[in-house]
Amino acid sequence: MAVRNPNSKFQIPNSPLRILGLETSCDETSLAILEVESLKSKVESRIRLKRHETISQIPIHQRYGGVVPEVAARSHVPEVVSLLERAKVFKRDSFDAIAVTRGPGLATALRVGIEGARTLAFLSGQPIVGVNHLEGHLASAWLVPKNRRNWKFPILFLLVSGGHTELVFMRDFCVYEVLGRTRDDASGEAFDKTAKLMGLPYPGGPEISRRAAQGKAGKFKLPRPMLNDASFDFSFSGLKTAVRRVWEDLPANKKTFFINDLCAAVEEAIVEVLVSKTLRAAQRFKPQAVGVVGGVSANPALQAGLKRALVASGIKFLEPPRGFYTDNGAMIAAAGLWHLRRNGLKGSWRSLEAEPELDL
Ligand code: KG4
Ligand code: ZN
Repeated sequence: MAVRNPNSKFQIPNSPLRILGLETSCDETSLAILEVESLKSKVESRIRLKRHETISQIPIHQRYGGVVPEVAARSHVPEVVSLLERAKVFKRDSFDAIAVTRGPGLATALRVGIEGARTLAFLSGQPIVGVNHLEGHLASAWLVPKNRRNWKFPILFLLVSGGHTELVFMRDFCVYEVLGRTRDDASGEAFDKTAKLMGLPYPGGPEISRRAAQGKAGKFKLPRPMLNDASFDFSFSGLKTAVRRVWEDLPANKKTFFINDLCAAVEEAIVEVLVSKTLRAAQRFKPQAVGVVGGVSANPALQAGLKRALVASGIKFLEPPRGFYTDNGAMIAAAGLWHLRRNGLKGSWRSLEAEPELDL
């Protein structure tokens, strides 16, 4: 265990260090313990996930057709407790620092994780670092061993989640520039909302993706919002409106017959815009590699489309973060590690607050 003297100037310990990561920003409660050989270690392959457990609230929110913030926050309370109990974190030596999501996310849901983490920090005397959830998603790519071995800056990330769609230029650990972002709905939201209006269950992304694989995209013509716009911004709310029109115009007895084709058309429209803008940003800013992260990065058509376009242009494509696509504690621990390496083992439980609107 790294010994920390709160009165002395920070010294990087030369011993294994365990970081507890806690995520409660939306509808997943997740805890991880990530071990790194030493904070000094440059050998990026030497990190180990000692523990990683996620409790998904999806079955709870499915009853309402989407995430209900108050229900999410209330559910996180017993879930955080049971994850902590199962991880036996109160046994000595089980962690040396705590990383917790401080935002963006649902205010009351964030607070559950933060208060849990602050209590742990108070009881253990260990430092606490508040992590930007979006940075956590970027760190999910770093959890993939092959990516860590080839990690060279700058890296361009397409960050696609339920709440965000951004093109992020990462110049160094903890140094980011947002090149473009959505002006309205995020891409995950576009999947979720179009699925909902077709009567499909929450979350819509995986459901549309599964149905799209059995449909023919060419049956319906949908818009590609902002595809030819010079900026690196996105917009998906027009797509949702177009899908609503197509769906409402379909006779009731044809809806079941054509639903997979419409799902394929929705997926194709979203993927085409995301791939095209990412490729254009990569050609303009010339990163060492391009990565895709966030819940929507689980989408096989998006992964394949990005890979095809980037490889054809001679641009390196990082492995999508399999196992860490949707919200999880491991990515929060990893981003916490980046900050601890940069700023040292410090951070008091007193000053940490939830920041629901936080951006990169
Ligand atoms: O990153 P995430 O777990 O939560 C946020 O930070 O928002 O992302 C959740 C989003 C949801 O909108 C969900 O529909 C979408 O990721 N998603 C997918 C797929 N799996 C999850 N979207 C498209 N295809 C998928 N296979
Ligand atoms: Zn997320």
